[in-house]
Amino acid sequence: MTSHPTYSIHTLELGPMENFIYIIEDHATKHAAIVDPAWDVDEILQLCQLKGLNVTDILLTHCHHDHINGVEEVLEKTDAQIHLMKAENDFWNPGFIKPRTLHGGDSIHLGKTEIQALHTPGHSKGSTCFKIGNQLIAGDTMFVFGCGHCRLAGSDPETLFKTLQKLKLEIPPQTIILPGHNYSPTHPTSTMGEQIHGNPFLHFDNQYDFIKYRMKIHDQIRSDPYEAIPAEDMGEHCSHYHE
Ligand SMILES: [Fe+2]
Repeated sequence: MTSHPTYSIHTLELGPMENFIYIIEDHATKHAAIVDPAWDVDEILQLCQLKGLNVTDILLTHCHHDHINGVEEVLEKTDAQIHLMKAENDFWNPGFIKPRTLHGGDSIHLGKTEIQALHTPGHSKGSTCFKIGNQLIAGDTMFVFGCGHCRLAGSDPETLFKTLQKLKLEIPPQTIILPGHNYSPTHPTSTMGEQIHGNPFLHFDNQYDFIKYRMKIHDQIRSDPYEAIPAEDMGEHCSHYHE
C-alpha cells in the first residue's frame, strides 16, 4: 500500500499472469476506484469492505482479457461507473453499459482525489496510464524493466516507441511506477528515474532499433522475471552505441 495525506493506493496481485489490481481510496469520502478488476472479484471487494470503502468507479488501463475479466461481476455488485479511453472502447467494443470515455488529459475526480488519464497507445490502441499525485498506474504500457508486447490486434510497436519516449521526457524521475503485472523479481514498483536507467525499452533513440528489439530480439533473449539492463549493456541492439 502507498499512502498520501488525501488518498491511498492498495495493491492486490491476482491470477495466473501476476496481474496487479490497484484500489485507489479517497480518504475524505471513502470512495474507491478499482483499476483493472480481474481474476478474483470476491477478494477485491472483500478488501474494499475491510477498508470501509464504497466502490464508485472502475478505471481500465486497456481491454485485454486479463485486465477486465472481473468488470461484469463488479458491475453486478456495485454501482460503479466505468472509465476507459474512447479508442479502446471503440476498438474492442466490450459492450459495457454507459462507459465514460476518455480522450487523454482528462481528469477523473474520486472524491477529493484527482486522477489524470494519459493516452499511452502502443500495447493497445487506447492504452491508458493513470496519474495520481506522484504515482503512475502504467497498465501494460511499462513494466518494471520491461514493456507490454505488440502481438495482438490494435497494438503497434512504432506507436509504443513514441509513447515510451514521451513518458521518458514528461514524467518526472521521482514518479513511482505501478505496473500492470509483477514481472520483476525484486521490484513490484519502481520510479521513472530507475526505469530510465535500467529499462531496456527506454534506451532506444531510434524507432527501427526499438521495433526490431520489441518484435524479434527481446522475446528470444529475455524472459521474466526482469532485471535492469543499463544502456551501455544494450550493445548491438542500440545503433547509437556503434557511433
Ligand atoms: Fe495487455
